[in-house]
Amino acid sequence: MQTTKLRPLFQLISINKEVIRTVAVASTAVKTEALKPWNEIPGPPSLPIIGQIHHFLPGGTFGDMKDPDTIMRLLDTYGPAVRLDSMLGKPPLLFLSDPDSAELVLRSENWLPYRPGFQSLEFYRNDYKKDKGRVTGLISDHGEVWKEFRSTVNPVMLQPKTIKLYAKVLDEVAQDMIVRMKANRDEKNMITKDFDKEMNLWALESIGTVALGCRLNSFDPNLPADSPEWQLIQCVHDLFSTANELDFKPSIWRYYATPTFKQAMKLYEHHENLTKYFINKGKEQLKTKPDNEKGVLEKLLEINEEVAHIMASDMLFAGVDTAANTVTATLYLLAKNPDKQAKLREEVTSNVEKRSYLRACIKESLRLMPVVSGNARRTTKEYNILGYQVPKGVDVIFTHREMSVMDKYYPKAKEYIPERWLTNKDDPLHYGNAHPFAYGPFGFGARSCIGRRIAELEMDTFVARLIENFQVEWFGPPPTVVQEALNYIKGPYNFVFKDIK
Ligand code: HEM
Repeated sequence: MQTTKLRPLFQLISINKEVIRTVAVASTAVKTEALKPWNEIPGPPSLPIIGQIHHFLPGGTFGDMKDPDTIMRLLDTYGPAVRLDSMLGKPPLLFLSDPDSAELVLRSENWLPYRPGFQSLEFYRNDYKKDKGRVTGLISDHGEVWKEFRSTVNPVMLQPKTIKLYAKVLDEVAQDMIVRMKANRDEKNMITKDFDKEMNLWALESIGTVALGCRLNSFDPNLPADSPEWQLIQCVHDLFSTANELDFKPSIWRYYATPTFKQAMKLYEHHENLTKYFINKGKEQLKTKPDNEKGVLEKLLEINEEVAHIMASDMLFAGVDTAANTVTATLYLLAKNPDKQAKLREEVTSNVEKRSYLRACIKESLRLMPVVSGNARRTTKEYNILGYQVPKGVDVIFTHREMSVMDKYYPKAKEYIPERWLTNKDDPLHYGNAHPFAYGPFGFGARSCIGRRIAELEMDTFVARLIENFQVEWFGPPPTVVQEALNYIKGPYNFVFKDIK
């Protein structure tokens, strides 16, 4: 493990290696360490003509990408750097479980970071919808266009003091959700039917309220099954699942419009229409709304209308399943660790202003059961990674989900210990003793999650209300986690929500 103190030294060594290599190219007289070529990086074996594509067929290494252990098996078999060559127009991939190398690439690519993924969304917004304007949003834009968009929205979406202003309304949402959950429990105090969708509904109401500056009222018990709210929840879920097929696996959609591709274009269009409906609803309510805290939409409308619409739409895309699954993971881990749950309850009912243990509980669940598996950057130059030459144009995948549960990076890595985020430096469990680039639930640097502060406030507020109101228990085997573009916690949802007396 590399300690924080040693990191600058490591960087220097890496830089030196680069310098030495350059000298070696310039002059054969200097004896230097040569970099091994890209194609010597270990990886699943290739066959003539088809390369590595057969590994994606049923029974192959990636045959069941939904199995969340796939990447760990890959790393166990081939080591901390695993190569996959270019396939069907997709750039080559490098899976990395070495945090030093992750740090090197993430820091070096932090000026105009290119995060691959969601190419189908990019295609929809740039090509399929030709009437669209110059900007398409943070998820799908790159380069200077992305940077300009990001600079416009950063102050509205990331400043802690701006985000804090949503605390009151998010608490109202949380309390309303508790009322709904109490009403939805069966005689065994369980919510077995569509628990995942219930969590999505909470996340939609929360992010919708922040984005649009008004309540969506999606907790209405008479909300029809075909209401825009339920349609949006289903649409977001289907989109992540379809994008997974098109963008995270080899697919021929770039050459031929496959049925999945056609379905994706319909879904993106459906999402666009639904978000237009919500934005119009938000704008209508703005006219009569009392003068309380403005939503993101209203704040951005004062700056740039196009940016305001796209950002609101992306919030309703990226902010639903992410927050919902993180709350479910936290509830599960707290249910399985009743001592931690009791400690948390003590904190949330004590009215202390700073709820450090609550924050630590959620951080720890993002370490053990992250909703986003990892992160990625496309290289814009050549790198020396673990002695191998990694060319420009490679999609490097940082396997945070796997690194975060490796004992070499986190002591007692598989245990749920929120205290590790709070103890002092002398404690071996102290998070500072772990490599900071092993864990990265919200990504890194200039391109890190724009919704992070909002998501944290939403989740803190809701988890606090849940633990204040319910003794949460779980019985039976752990929930299954299915890896699509996100990690989804699937039923049966064996939660028991007992009232706190
Ligand atoms: C638990 C909740 C969430 C997690 C774990 C999460 C995680 C992430 C990660 C890992 C990235 C990639 C960052 C990078 O490339 O370095 C990201 C990007 C992004 N997230 Fe989140 N996210 C969450 C909630 C949200 C919410 C609530 C919103 C809505 C406001 C949101 C909107 C976005 C957007 C728009 C991007 C693209 C940012 C850019 O490329 O500039 N996320 N998120």
